[in-house]
Amino acid sequence: MSAELRIAHLRKVFATGKPAVDDVSFTIAAGEIVVLLGPSGCGKTTTLRCVAGLEHPTDGEISLAGEPISAPARGILMPPRLRNIGMVFQSYAVWPHMTVRENVAYPLKSRGLSRADQDRRIADALALVDLGGYADRPVTQLSGGQMQRVALARSMVYEPRLLLLDEPLSNLDAQLRLRLRDDLRRIVKKAGLTALYVTHDQTEAVVLGDRIGVMRDGKLLQMASPEEVYNRPADLFVAAFTGASNFIPGQVTARDGEFGAVRTADGATLRAWMPQGVVPGANVQVAVRPENIRFTEAAGSENRVTAKVTAQRYLGMQTSYDLSVFGATIEGIEVGTAVRYPVGSEVTVALPPESCWAYAASADDARAMTPH
Ligand SMILES: Nc1ncnc2c1ncn2[C@@H]1O[C@H](COP(=O)(O)OP(=O)(O)OP(=O)(O)O)[C@@H](O)[C@H]1O
Ligand SMILES: [Mg+2]
Repeated sequence: MSAELRIAHLRKVFATGKPAVDDVSFTIAAGEIVVLLGPSGCGKTTTLRCVAGLEHPTDGEISLAGEPISAPARGILMPPRLRNIGMVFQSYAVWPHMTVRENVAYPLKSRGLSRADQDRRIADALALVDLGGYADRPVTQLSGGQMQRVALARSMVYEPRLLLLDEPLSNLDAQLRLRLRDDLRRIVKKAGLTALYVTHDQTEAVVLGDRIGVMRDGKLLQMASPEEVYNRPADLFVAAFTGASNFIPGQVTARDGEFGAVRTADGATLRAWMPQGVVPGANVQVAVRPENIRFTEAAGSENRVTAKVTAQRYLGMQTSYDLSVFGATIEGIEVGTAVRYPVGSEVTVALPPESCWAYAASADDARAMTPH
């Protein structure tokens, strides 16, 4: 039976200094897939390992199906093998001297099931990952994607209460990765498992997660649906990490409800969404995704301006333009195989206010946010 996972104020400090996980709290409903997304070193694996019991948390509580499995302040620490949690890692971690069936059967050995029960579970798990016809194959004769599906079947065969996956696709080539990414969500949903999935790949997070949690420096900055993370990033870091690579500096001149006016360096006014706490007078960076800049918008649309094209990069399926506008240089992307605006030309663009997000921040903050 899949179970609810509840993490409250989780902290892990290694001997070497600053916290790897710093006061992280979230809940995963039974049957829900949550993805932790963030740059290298932000604490994703450490969080996962604390849930698995492979790492001893410094503080905070972790409960599964309402039962505490880790609560250092109360002296509770359930050993990993009693937690009934399935795990899949980056490396294939299959036993090379065994067949597919033997690999998948392995976790059942010590569980006292009848032979018939074991066979049924193995057949179900292999069918779920589309390897029904491969049971007697030595795993060394499988592709990387197939090996990873064996690892997945093995982690699900004992019907764990929770499945943990740590970048399970990162060793696969690009094509396999895309295929298995789509398969993974279907497989986990079909099995009805609660899952916590860790990655630094935004697209993987969006495709797989019911909700995404964005982490930085051990902290959970935002946890919400993929659509909310992409359209209402909680702060400048979340916006930048998920691809809002343009930053237009300015000062807030007015605010009405969730939106407000920003005066930009060239004296123009830009209407933008503003998170709570951004007030008139504040210096802000307005973050905009290149894909959200509209070319040749109809008259009357908001934030419609004339921009000068200062550079152009033809990418086949789309063209990226550097645009001088609002006292800044920003990138805009137009989808399609045509290149329509030469360098030096003027183009009318519109930045929909819904897609312009004003965060209280300095230019240095914005530069530091851009992922390398
Ligand atoms: N055993 C350890 N001893 C000391 N420090 C550690 C240990 N394991 C992790 N850390 C540190 O904790 C921080 C978080 O590491 P973690 O492995 O959780 O990051 P991550 O988000 O999984 O990164 P990546 O995307 O690179 O896998 C890092 O600064 C790391 O150096
Ligand atoms: Mg990691």
